[in-house]
Amino acid sequence: MPKSDDRPIGVFDSGVGGLSILIELKKLLPHENFVFLADQKYVPYGEKTKKELVNLCVNITDYFVKKHDIKMMVVACNTATCYSIKELRQNFKIPIVGTEPAVKPAAQNTRTGVIGIISTPATSKSKTIKRLITDFTHGTEVINIGCQNLENVVEEGDLSSSKVKVLLNKYLKEIKNSKADRLVLGCTHYPFLRKTIQAMVGPKVKLIDSGKAIAKHAKSLVTKNLFKNNQVGMGKTTHFTTGNAQRFSKVASKLLGAKVVAFQAKL
Ligand code: DGL
Repeated sequence: MPKSDDRPIGVFDSGVGGLSILIELKKLLPHENFVFLADQKYVPYGEKTKKELVNLCVNITDYFVKKHDIKMMVVACNTATCYSIKELRQNFKIPIVGTEPAVKPAAQNTRTGVIGIISTPATSKSKTIKRLITDFTHGTEVINIGCQNLENVVEEGDLSSSKVKVLLNKYLKEIKNSKADRLVLGCTHYPFLRKTIQAMVGPKVKLIDSGKAIAKHAKSLVTKNLFKNNQVGMGKTTHFTTGNAQRFSKVASKLLGAKVVAFQAKL
């Protein structure tokens, strides 16, 4: 058996959204240690330029490598992946897993030939989403909607208030009025709105996020790189935020249904 590697896996997002990916990672890699960073000082990423995003993501990766000696990193953010994954892979040697909207499975499985995609304004305009649509949706009608402020309600821990419903009504209108039977949740904050979104689009529309696929890919890389942590017990997760640690802890505890005590990260 290869030597046990107890270095943590770094996972980051602009905020609490990345926890939706962390949940899936912990299911498939229960013995691994994780360091989670929410870059809440700069949330929302969905309103930033490529240059700003590359700078932020390079800084975070540098922090993870230098301060936490991570063995691998998961970019638990579609926006950050779309605009910075290439630069991150050029600048750092560790394996890096990105998160992209699950356009391919949605297009493969639609029966009506119509799919919807909701994501941040930046992701909806990105070259990545255009590439995914061109490569995987031949003959399928795609309704691609950029949603301003939707990540911000999740940041507040608000998952179903009238404010959330007003926003969702606006962004889901075109999709609801179409024949779409698959809806891609192209931002890692949105799985926390799943119940509210499902109630609004009805049971015929299947919601698809990337969490499970990302976790599967991360697991295969851990195995391939002989990075496995062979400890018998469960791994440990440490949470950090560049924003307010108390606020993060409160919202993260609500979203995860378990007590989280986060630390302030100084990058
Ligand atoms: N959770 C992020 C994503 O998947 C971005 C949210 C934001 O900060 O705008 O795109």
